[in-house]
Amino acid sequence: MAKTSKPTFYVTTPIYYVNDVLHIGHAYTTIIADILARAKKLRGCEVFFLTGTDEHGQKIEKAAAEKGLQPKELADRVVVRALDLWKALDISFDFFIRTTMPQHERGVQAVFKMLMDKGDVYKGEYKGWYCVSDENFLAEDVPLEKEGHKVCPDCGKKCILVSEECYFFKLSAYQKPLLDLYDKNPAFVRPPSRMNEVASFVRQGLRDLSITRTTVKWGVPVPGDPKHTIYVWFDALHNYLTGIGYGTDDKNFRRFWPADLHLVGKDILRFHAVFWPAFLMAGGFELPRTVFGHGWWLKDDTKMSKSKGNVLDPYQILKFFGPDPLRYFLVREVPIGLDGNFSHEAFLHRVNSDLANDLGNLVQRTLTMIRNYFQGRIDDPGPELPVDAALRQGFAELKDKAVALYDDYAINKALEEIWAYITSVNKYLAGHEPWKLAKSPSNRPRLGRILFQAAAAIRGICHLLFPVMPSSMSKVWDCLGEAKKPDEELFSEFNFDGFKKGQVIKEPVPLFPRVALKDFLSEGTAPRTPAGPTATTAARKTPAASSATKEQTMDIITYDDFKKMDLKVGLILTAERVPNTDKLLKLEVDLGTEKRQVVAGVGDVYTPEEIIGKKLIMVANLKPAVIRGVESQGMILAAESGGKAIIPFFERDVAPGSKVK
Ligand code: MSP
Repeated sequence: MAKTSKPTFYVTTPIYYVNDVLHIGHAYTTIIADILARAKKLRGCEVFFLTGTDEHGQKIEKAAAEKGLQPKELADRVVVRALDLWKALDISFDFFIRTTMPQHERGVQAVFKMLMDKGDVYKGEYKGWYCVSDENFLAEDVPLEKEGHKVCPDCGKKCILVSEECYFFKLSAYQKPLLDLYDKNPAFVRPPSRMNEVASFVRQGLRDLSITRTTVKWGVPVPGDPKHTIYVWFDALHNYLTGIGYGTDDKNFRRFWPADLHLVGKDILRFHAVFWPAFLMAGGFELPRTVFGHGWWLKDDTKMSKSKGNVLDPYQILKFFGPDPLRYFLVREVPIGLDGNFSHEAFLHRVNSDLANDLGNLVQRTLTMIRNYFQGRIDDPGPELPVDAALRQGFAELKDKAVALYDDYAINKALEEIWAYITSVNKYLAGHEPWKLAKSPSNRPRLGRILFQAAAAIRGICHLLFPVMPSSMSKVWDCLGEAKKPDEELFSEFNFDGFKKGQVIKEPVPLFPRVALKDFLSEGTAPRTPAGPTATTAARKTPAASSATKEQTMDIITYDDFKKMDLKVGLILTAERVPNTDKLLKLEVDLGTEKRQVVAGVGDVYTPEEIIGKKLIMVANLKPAVIRGVESQGMILAAESGGKAIIPFFERDVAPGSKVK
């Protein structure tokens, strides 16, 4: 019997220039492509995901010369860093194309020759302005005048005057075919607002485009006329053909071309939505289905760019959080078409509220309860409760919606729907108060059913979230005792009732660390104590992972666990700063029957004078520790708020040493 072939999905990112390191803006496009590629695999598609580097042209030639390197040497260095970053971000590309690869260079020459043979390329003379930073030819009247220089209207950088023999591409002949394309296929450019911009640009008339340079040597030579170098954008755009085997692997090429989705930033939309389809039409290739022009990530309301000095290094975030919170934040915070302003506060808020609280706590609590109350396996979940149908039905509806939204590249909306469901599962759990049911053996069947149902819902959430957070969702999946990987089952095959009786739940692992803003903002500082009511022995550095575990399991400690803590009222007798520290105070605290020396990290909020004579809560039976050379014999309780430790002092009179319970 003939094997039915799977539908295909071919997605690309722009290929990144190698003049500099990659920042969050570049990571953004690549993360979107990765999420959509993973979602399409779960839809049963055979996916090809292409990314890579744009290594030729004047910009790279210049950057390399400034660094005293050969262009290829510079490219080799940057490529190593790019590959490292994509690994750290869990990017699952199928091929990484470099425009210096021989198969690419040959492919570009083959197309160039074909267009020349067809008469769409002719020789002439170019005189006009050129923006090296954007690698863009500007018409005579386009550049702006600034301080006696001509500057690029797009990036504001100085332009150069170019006057040289060159080959032109007959772009003007494609005005009508392009307008027809936009008319017939409104989804060719997305979002629709960008389609309007592109169409009105083309309607104003198109001039023929210079597609070679003689004064630039770093590039692909024109076949048969090597003193001309092929224009870097003509070269680069063809990566989308050569990256899937044009000229080298015909079978693969035919399998995946035309591309389903070219993801690009709005600044390079014109190259992709005007020049690219015109080149393809001239070459007789089928046209890509969609070019999606996404918005920019701004910092302080300005596009992130090296020259403005406002770029954010993804590693600054990765080292605290790993890949998933960054992946989640970038696609959750704004719809793909719009600009977003990156703020550390907004990032932390999302991570703490959506990931650590809503999702992390749900998983941690449910799994810990199954382990504590059922030794990790529910063999007999008991009869279904009337309310359970809503959870199952809610999931079925969610799955349909989320899958349709992923299909429509509306990742942020898919996440909104998934979070609405997470909230409903949290309510289900809170409404049944399983921790109370656990107190009486007669409630055991009901308790088993509730936890079983919650685990089934978590498994469903995990499956739907896998494209966005593959690493954390794989961990949850594993803790649920699943034998297969979360992406081994398609969305269409996934069944809420696939969570089986007797599945063995493993000890939950920390998922999302909580990090304080001040630690996040201060380079090189390890993350520390979680937000919310917490204990501080001052600047004790707690690794993110362990603080998350502690926080997330707090709901379900037993009273016996709590009783182990000896909490007492302490009266501060003396307070002084610990020398050479920013915020450590050494306190002498009266515990009624004895005096203790305690070191606390509260000196950035309180002066020593203002806290002397106040009464607070102390953990009296904590093992002593030495902090910055000073012994601390216990710990005071404080709430962490906005990165500061705030001490709850007693308002009414209470005797030092009184038990707190
Ligand atoms: N080399 C060309 C692309 C050739 S594709 C055939 C290029 N490279 S780039 O490195 O300058 O930019 C690559 C992509 O990163 C572009 O889509 C650009 O929009 C995107 N971004 C760069 N800074 C960005 C932000 N601050 N925010 C979002 N995306 C941004 O152009």
